[in-house]
Amino acid sequence: MRLSEDKIKELIDEAIKARENAYTPYSHFKVGALVVDEKGHHHLGCNVENGSYGLTNCGERTAIFNGVSNGMKNIDIIVIVADTTGPVSPCGACRQVIKEFSNDNTVIILANLKKDYKIMSMEELLPYGFQL
Ligand code: THU
Repeated sequence: MRLSEDKIKELIDEAIKARENAYTPYSHFKVGALVVDEKGHHHLGCNVENGSYGLTNCGERTAIFNGVSNGMKNIDIIVIVADTTGPVSPCGACRQVIKEFSNDNTVIILANLKKDYKIMSMEELLPYGFQL
């Protein structure tokens, strides 16, 4: 999929907006995510922390679960953004969850608040990931 520079920045902006809702009283590290599904529908997510720590849900998983709850079958594009020096690097658990709904054409855009970004394929993000 060919995405113009303007389109990429627009998608990053949406993820930055979603990040504003992050609930992070413990880490203060906010993550926002946008998923565009196979029908072109947009689903947003942010990280939601919990006092038990372990029950925290990452921003990208929230966006994916939001999408699946609304009928999403496949991820066409996922954008993940955080306030990091370079484009954010998603955790291993989230890489596996993205894989569950991705295909060879899925575009993964990792970004930061300055809108520096890196585009990766699923195979680049999680080589030799688990598959049933
Ligand atoms: N976090 C995400 O939302 N996504 C990731 O890929 C890594 C970590 C969140 C979890 C927690 O709320 C905070 O960032 C610090 O770990």
